[in-house]
Amino acid sequence: MGRFRALEAYESEGKFSQRVIERDFGDLPDHEVMIKVSYSSLNYKDALSASGHKGITKQYPHIPGIDAAGVVVSDSSGRFNPGDQVIVVGFDLGMNTYGGFSEYISVPAAWPVPLPKGMTQQQAMMLGTAGITAGYCVEKLSLNGLDPEAGPVVVTGASGGVGSIALALLAQLGFEVHAVSGKPEAETWLHEIGAETILSREELAEHSHKALLEQRWAGAVDTVGGETLVNIIKGLQFGASVTACGMITGTSLPVDIFPFILRGVQLLGVASADATTADRRRVLGKLNSLWNINNLPGMVRVVGLEQLPEEIDNMLQGKSFKRVVVDVSSQSK
Ligand SMILES: NC(=O)c1ccc[n+]([C@@H]2O[C@H](COP(=O)([O-])OP(=O)(O)OC[C@H]3O[C@@H](n4cnc5c(N)ncnc54)[C@H](OP(=O)(O)O)[C@@H]3O)[C@@H](O)[C@H]2O)c1
Repeated sequence: MGRFRALEAYESEGKFSQRVIERDFGDLPDHEVMIKVSYSSLNYKDALSASGHKGITKQYPHIPGIDAAGVVVSDSSGRFNPGDQVIVVGFDLGMNTYGGFSEYISVPAAWPVPLPKGMTQQQAMMLGTAGITAGYCVEKLSLNGLDPEAGPVVVTGASGGVGSIALALLAQLGFEVHAVSGKPEAETWLHEIGAETILSREELAEHSHKALLEQRWAGAVDTVGGETLVNIIKGLQFGASVTACGMITGTSLPVDIFPFILRGVQLLGVASADATTADRRRVLGKLNSLWNINNLPGMVRVVGLEQLPEEIDNMLQGKSFKRVVVDVSSQSK
């Protein structure tokens, strides 16, 4: 076997950058399943890994990419057959195991799940970790009793991967969605994908000394954390829930107990990277049927490995909008 292309994150003079390189097959980790990757996607965790965030990736040079869709080349465990179409999302892919920004990956046999029937590899990566996480959020809220009659639902980081898919899905399910975004240039698009009302990032990020705020929302999907999540908790209706998956604005949650003990609000954590295979298959199955998002192709941009450094930079600066799907085999001249 020859060599293959990948996006490498590397450190030089204390600064982290990314470049497209060629790698030998012997550089891949010695796991059971080798997969020829067709598509990957860009998630916030990839941007952190690609820029030297040691909480995500400890050793550099490294190949990021927490998502991959492709075809099995070989499987020493016997679980998959050559030619099987599979998806790998989460686990340690792209963190401390070489990831999906690469023409080939090698992963433990417990990680791939079969591509759902009727879904293409590219569609799977339009969803990727962001879509599956949005699915978990909506599922948790529904299991906690949320329904469209209860009132509006708020989604933060609305122009980002998790936020935009959660927003489109909730709107399609009949909810009145309030989108929180820091990008005035994304407003038209946010309305197109289903937002009824758009709130500014600043409004939700402002610190309030009040323990409780006006009861505005029947549910919430928060992707940014920090003061924004605090304000949502304080502004939920009696008995309402918020899912928390992100920490873009910070890791601490300075909130007091009153929303929980006076209004019975619930904070639901979402941790998709280590979800069970059964959870992944169930949520992917829903996203492939009942929750099939009508305008998903219009919600993404497709780029090659060469465009990723610029996309990563934009994402870290909070400037990107629309989800980025990576066509791993496309090469710009
Ligand atoms: N726990 C899990 O299972 C899980 C899974 C997936 C992702 N995540 C986390 O969820 C978060 C979102 O991930 P993603 O892949 O959707 O990222 P993304 O595509 O980069 O979207 C994040 C969005 O957050 C908003 N934002 C950026 N900087 C901000 C700031 N300083 N203050 C407030 N909002 C800001 C932006 O939207 P607007 O401009 O529209 O405001 C941005 O598009 C990340 O923290 C990620 O690590 C967690």
